Amino acid sequence: MAEDILFSPFQLKRFNVKNRLGVAPMTRMSSVKDSIPRRDVLDFLVARAKNGAGIVYTEAIVTDYESAQGYPGQARLTSQRQIDVWSRVVENIHRHGALSILQMFHCGRVAWSGVNPAGRVIAPSAICPRQDNPLTGEPYPTPDVMSRFDIDHVLNGFVETAKGAVAAGFDGIEIHGAHGYLISQFLSGYTNQRTDGYGGSMEKRYRFVHEVIQAVRPVVPSDRLLFFRISNWGVVDKEISLFSDQAEYQDIIRRLSQEPIDAVSVSTYAYGDEAFGSGKTMARLTREATTLPIFICGKIYDRRSAEEALKDADIVLSGKTALLNPDWVDDLRTGKTLPLRSAEEADIAYTTKPLP
Ligand SMILES: Cc1cc2nc3c(=O)[nH]c(=O)nc-3n(C[C@H](O)[C@H](O)[C@H](O)COP(=O)(O)O)c2cc1C
Repeated sequence: MAEDILFSPFQLKRFNVKNRLGVAPMTRMSSVKDSIPRRDVLDFLVARAKNGAGIVYTEAIVTDYESAQGYPGQARLTSQRQIDVWSRVVENIHRHGALSILQMFHCGRVAWSGVNPAGRVIAPSAICPRQDNPLTGEPYPTPDVMSRFDIDHVLNGFVETAKGAVAAGFDGIEIHGAHGYLISQFLSGYTNQRTDGYGGSMEKRYRFVHEVIQAVRPVVPSDRLLFFRISNWGVVDKEISLFSDQAEYQDIIRRLSQEPIDAVSVSTYAYGDEAFGSGKTMARLTREATTLPIFICGKIYDRRSAEEALKDADIVLSGKTALLNPDWVDDLRTGKTLPLRSAEEADIAYTTKPLP
């Protein structure tokens, strides 16, 4: 009988991931005190491990108290109380045999006035998103151009959050370079119009990414994992703010391949969509440019889509389906017919009712 690829193990350095199915990072906006998520939101992650996922991601964890938070109720991981809470979550995820990955994030210009204790809004350039914040109906605030101090402060936030994640016992850490937030704002020639060493050529726009990875890797022990998430879509200014063409995207993937990272996670709207008019998918274009392990996400919901997505990737991640269906992994095992979930259905992420 042919091997069942979805349930075959995958080696990520010293980690033997038990299957190819992971729960994607999903912000739940549930932290009311001390930047610690609600109990049931933490339990949700453990439940997904218990129900068979090979990898469980946290929501995007905010990297500092000054300017990193972009939504109300996001979480942080630097205080001892935060570390203690997360280490219990990690322990329980491990008990069920899954890998625990912390994602860390800075919102940049996709900001929400007032949610950061220090109230700063910063970005590579003072370019405001063209549309209003869909959650508030208000315009986004215009960011301050990042100064040398800001760049160093943000780098430090990534480092300290990575240290918190290591102390809490996470197997790996992901740098969120996707979806139009701070790191992808540096990469894009539209949102990064700097004339110093951080803007202009692709090499210069890439410099901030390089500095984040180089700053973070030394605090992540060599037996833990470091990933980078990338996408060609963002939450604002989708048409203009990301990679200009296939060559630019693959150039960045090649640069990432030179970094001390252990996988690249590619986030798409739909894994099967053609990218940059190339006739190829994002996963395929990524595969052409790197030998790093590849995670793929975007409208992967049933056995057929998961198997197809794995043709050019090593692990599939699910967001909405994993959020709404606690039995997702079992349903893939049995090949059950499953519905494709909508963004509206995923709003359940923000209700206070515990999810199964
Ligand atoms: C409620 C919700 C919250 C999300 N939060 C994050 C996040 O914190 N970090 C991130 O990289 N992606 C986030 N995403 C995007 C998902 O990780 C995923 O890339 C996207 O939903 C597409 O996958 P899907 O079609 O399986 O849902 C979020 C998605 C949803 C539905």
